[in-house]
Amino acid sequence: MEKTIKCVQDLYDMLDADFRSAKQFWEPFYENRDRPIPFFSNKPDENLVAEVQAGRLKGGKALELGCGPGRNALYLARQGYQVEAYDLSETAIAWAKERAAEEQLDVHFECRSVFELTLNQEYDLMYDSGCLHHLLPHQRISYIEMIDQALKPGGYLGLTCFAPGYGGQGGPELVMDDWDVYREKSMRGGLAFTEEKLRYILGDTFECVELRPMKAMSPDDAYFGLPILWVTLWKKPELQGSTD
Ligand SMILES: C[S@@+](CC[C@H](N)C(=O)[O-])C[C@H]1O[C@@H](n2cnc3c(N)ncnc32)[C@H](O)[C@@H]1O
Repeated sequence: MEKTIKCVQDLYDMLDADFRSAKQFWEPFYENRDRPIPFFSNKPDENLVAEVQAGRLKGGKALELGCGPGRNALYLARQGYQVEAYDLSETAIAWAKERAAEEQLDVHFECRSVFELTLNQEYDLMYDSGCLHHLLPHQRISYIEMIDQALKPGGYLGLTCFAPGYGGQGGPELVMDDWDVYREKSMRGGLAFTEEKLRYILGDTFECVELRPMKAMSPDDAYFGLPILWVTLWKKPELQGSTD
């Protein structure tokens, strides 16, 4: 029965209904590839490269959540990862597939919401660069459950998201109270997180391996880096008794 609340999903649907759909926002976002959007450049995040070069991220199966035109997924494929990458925007996925074809890289790019994924302990790495901070607060609950379910024990979650205090520089100025998102019916273009809030949200499920501001990279650098973002790496605990 429409508009009858019987289960948690009905509650989530009610909360979603007050907001413009993410697909409506993101689908046209990628139509003009010449716009000066920093993440339109085909460069991987500096933190992802650093972790690969340091040997912590060693290859295997990776999944990118909200991959856009695929710059991090493509980098992981170049490093020998077997990669799947999903995004809501058909336009972004078409662009990502073109990029993969140009380099003859084998990446499974697919236009699909991260909320439609059912995955089972198969990934060594899940990567989210700028997706979480565009999700509504209640959507984090199933998002984090899905990531936890998808990762192998000992697998990693790499995540970059807005830090507060960068209002004039393309990032949010303030951390918005989650309740205010629903009162204002807006995320003001993306939610900023304090270090404490990130640890609160993720720290019960994953061990924090790294949490620092992203390094600034210039347009001439080979890697992407904007200090308006946190870079974070989390590890799913090993199974008890495991020696790996
Ligand atoms: C800020 S962009 C970042 C794109 C890409 N990760 C990068 O850094 O180049 C956020 C992306 O998340 C995607 N996104 C938002 N909600 C999503 C959802 N529910 N499922 C899949 N992708 C989503 C958007 O379509 C958009 O491409």
